[in-house]
Amino acid sequence: MTKKIDNNIIEKKNIDFFSSNSEYQKNVATIDTYKILYSEITNFIKSSNKLLDIGHGGSFDYDTSKVKEITGLDLDKMIDVSKLPKNIKLVEGSALDIPESIGNFDTTIVVMLLHHLVGKSVSENLENLDKCLKQIHKTLIKNGKLIIVESCVPNWFYLIEKLLFKPTSFLINKFMKHPPAFQFTQEILKKYLTNNNYENINFKKIKQGKFILQYGIKVPTFLTPVETIIITATK
Ligand SMILES: C[S@@+](CC[C@H](N)C(=O)[O-])C[C@H]1O[C@@H](n2cnc3c(N)ncnc32)[C@H](O)[C@@H]1O
Repeated sequence: MTKKIDNNIIEKKNIDFFSSNSEYQKNVATIDTYKILYSEITNFIKSSNKLLDIGHGGSFDYDTSKVKEITGLDLDKMIDVSKLPKNIKLVEGSALDIPESIGNFDTTIVVMLLHHLVGKSVSENLENLDKCLKQIHKTLIKNGKLIIVESCVPNWFYLIEKLLFKPTSFLINKFMKHPPAFQFTQEILKKYLTNNNYENINFKKIKQGKFILQYGIKVPTFLTPVETIIITATK
């Protein structure tokens, strides 16, 4: 019961920060790291016919005209639907409980979503990662492709992040508009993908630009330990 209430608080914070956040959408469209990602992600999605984008945030950081049919799933519509191209439809729902009504995708993509699936402890964050990967598995056709675009952290940082998660997420919840986040290592993502029966798991490290967003704030990339990674895996 308390877990459900905590999830609702986190989901509400995500909606309050990302919904119709034109500043965030402008940052994604203009900051060098996300421009590099735009062309990288476009290369990965261009052979897809039916794509599910979970946690799209209204920003769709790739060329949406390359895919015939896109379904965007997020906690809220996030963007004025009249501004969307005709091949995109939006569904409201959670990555932790994907509506049964959507499925049969040849590709499901999550761009900078996984670090937002936080609970109230590190073990809940890992449970949510596991739950999300299980839910995504159901959305894919046989041999369908999962694309994960994530900012990952090195092991030394993960140890610090784990130790400080409770106090920092408490302070972020109290004083920041941006929701709390928890970044994983590449090894953890690989382990959870394998445990959830994904195959052909591949990692590509993306060259980052001079700037990157951390907690929604534009910061010089050299100040952060994060690495931007594109992971692909098949069902
Ligand atoms: C950092 S933004 C990424 C937006 C976009 N994919 C991009 O890269 O610009 C994270 C997005 O994940 C969404 N999100 C957070 N928790 C979610 C959940 N449980 N289910 C679906 N979406 C969620 C947020 O609402 C937000 O739109």
